[in-house]
Amino acid sequence: MTALRLDKYLCDMGQGSRSEIKKLIRKGQVTVKGETVRDPGFQVEEGDQVTLSGQVIAYHAYEYYMLNKPAGVISASRTDLRDQRQQCVVDLIREKSRKDLFPVGRLDKDTVGLLLITNDGALAHDLLSPRKHVEKLYYAELSQPVTQEALDRLRQGVDIGDEKPTLPCRIDAPEGEEEPYGRLLIRIREGRYHQIKRMLEAVGSSVTYLKRLAMGSLVLDEELPEGGYRCLREEELQALKSAGTLDKP
Ligand code: URA
Repeated sequence: MTALRLDKYLCDMGQGSRSEIKKLIRKGQVTVKGETVRDPGFQVEEGDQVTLSGQVIAYHAYEYYMLNKPAGVISASRTDLRDQRQQCVVDLIREKSRKDLFPVGRLDKDTVGLLLITNDGALAHDLLSPRKHVEKLYYAELSQPVTQEALDRLRQGVDIGDEKPTLPCRIDAPEGEEEPYGRLLIRIREGRYHQIKRMLEAVGSSVTYLKRLAMGSLVLDEELPEGGYRCLREEELQALKSAGTLDKP
């Protein structure tokens, strides 16, 4: 953290609006390094201990959450939401400090499963960059079971009405599933609009249920119920960061 204004420090950490915080500071409710500070513009340096009403407020520039997205919620931040009456995925993260969180990529409104929510723009950019080819794993249930021949076509790439066909992808049947397949595990390295749904439509079926299970090294925690979330573990974050920096073939 580079030095930053005391009122911004507390605002970034979700302690209130800038004007509420200024009032608290002027009232003498805030200390820095054990001394009461009444100037909202006071510069807080890295490692300074800040308290508000006797409680230590630690600063973290970035937050990372793994969300098991439920159906019916839009993959957007509040500022990106066109209709403010709708619920967005960031609203589901109740204990957040930062107000600048956003989802990394989008899942359709009816798609469930893994969504990374953060304010780390550089990591998001890396994970979403088409050059990095980060693999996303989906579990899909289909209206019409598909044959092995359809799977082979999907694996090679199909025309979904875009300029180019889809890139080659990996497809497996979940354990116990036999041909014709009504359930599939699909790994894609692209992120086109409604991609999985359009791929299945290209082979004469359609998706009735779609769940994202993994994104790169990050695997959905099975303990999380739909709508549940938790902070990323340090090792999960480091694995994602190192994958994001590699250009895949
Ligand atoms: N493909 C889709 O069709 N929908 C999603 O939400 C994600 C991938």
